[in-house]
Amino acid sequence: GLPRQVTVYEVGPRDGLQNESAIVPVEVKAEFIDRLADAGHRVIEATSFVHPTWVPQLADAQDLLTRLDRRPGVRYPVLVPNERGLDRALAHDVEEIAIFASATETFAAKNLNRGLESQFEMFEPVVARALDNGVKVRAYVSMCFGDPWEGPTPIAQVVAVGERLLGLGCHELSLGDTIGVGTPGHVTALIESFRDPDRLAVHFHDTYGQALANTLAALRSGVHVVDASTGGIGGCPYAESATGNLATEDLVWMLHGLGIDTGLDLDKLVATSTWLAERLGRPSPSRVVQALAKG
Ligand code: HMG
Ligand code: MG
Repeated sequence: GLPRQVTVYEVGPRDGLQNESAIVPVEVKAEFIDRLADAGHRVIEATSFVHPTWVPQLADAQDLLTRLDRRPGVRYPVLVPNERGLDRALAHDVEEIAIFASATETFAAKNLNRGLESQFEMFEPVVARALDNGVKVRAYVSMCFGDPWEGPTPIAQVVAVGERLLGLGCHELSLGDTIGVGTPGHVTALIESFRDPDRLAVHFHDTYGQALANTLAALRSGVHVVDASTGGIGGCPYAESATGNLATEDLVWMLHGLGIDTGLDLDKLVATSTWLAERLGRPSPSRVVQALAKG
């Protein structure tokens, strides 16, 4: 069966804007996040506390959090790779962080400057200290279906990394198809290999046009948290073939069509995408935005 309610975990301000070639002004980022909250979002990944030279697009994380009007009932998680990042996040009273692991050796090296095993030495103290401070921790695993250097990722390898992250005390595990190569049968097989699909979220990049089909497969396997980005912007600067995420508007069109409640106002989402596209200087790749913005 399908869930009656789905939480859309909005990653546009982080995954979307980390991949823009131009640096978006901090006041535009703050307004973007405000508009997302106005449209009904209850969880908005706001930015990253990563090394500022690795991702200069989000080097203004501190400034952004200072400006942000954090509303009661809305969660604003931020990406944190290590203890230095956690210190920066705690200094801004962040209530939720997300760590991000790799399922493959090569991507761990490229994205984190660590190995498949040594990434855990970086994450363990981050999770322990975050939980001690009352901060919730989401975990991502990237390259869950395949990676550009190693080919298809073995399911057992993804499950081993993922269960270990959950075992640290992370409340949620987001399965990332960083380069969008997954297909629905693979999604079902992966999700059903985990002990508790209830703690899983899915994070599909739409490189091969499979993101919506993959999402439906995930919902049928018991997932009820889906990551998406406004207008389908996004990508990972350390995985060149990665394009944008599943577009929030495309996801919401499908979910509402299925009678699944999201709490989101699609017209406001489309208006926000159109507003953002004007600031980024190019149209949104989302089919739903293109269809509705014309009318
Ligand atoms: P490193 O160079 O190994 O870091 O980078 P280090 O621990 O050796 O430290 C070197 C210097 O950097 C030190 O300064 C640190 O203080 C400083 P020094 O003592 O030399 O003056 N430093 C920092 N400064 C500010 N903030 C920090 C920080 N950390 C160290 N957090 C590191 C390791 C993990 C930091 C680096 O590789 C990094 O920042 N990587 C992040 C890459 C990234 O953001 N990628 C995109 C996000 S992941 C993604 O998009 C995938 C996802 O969407 C899911 C999917 O699609 O699959 C989540
Ligand atoms: Mg991503």
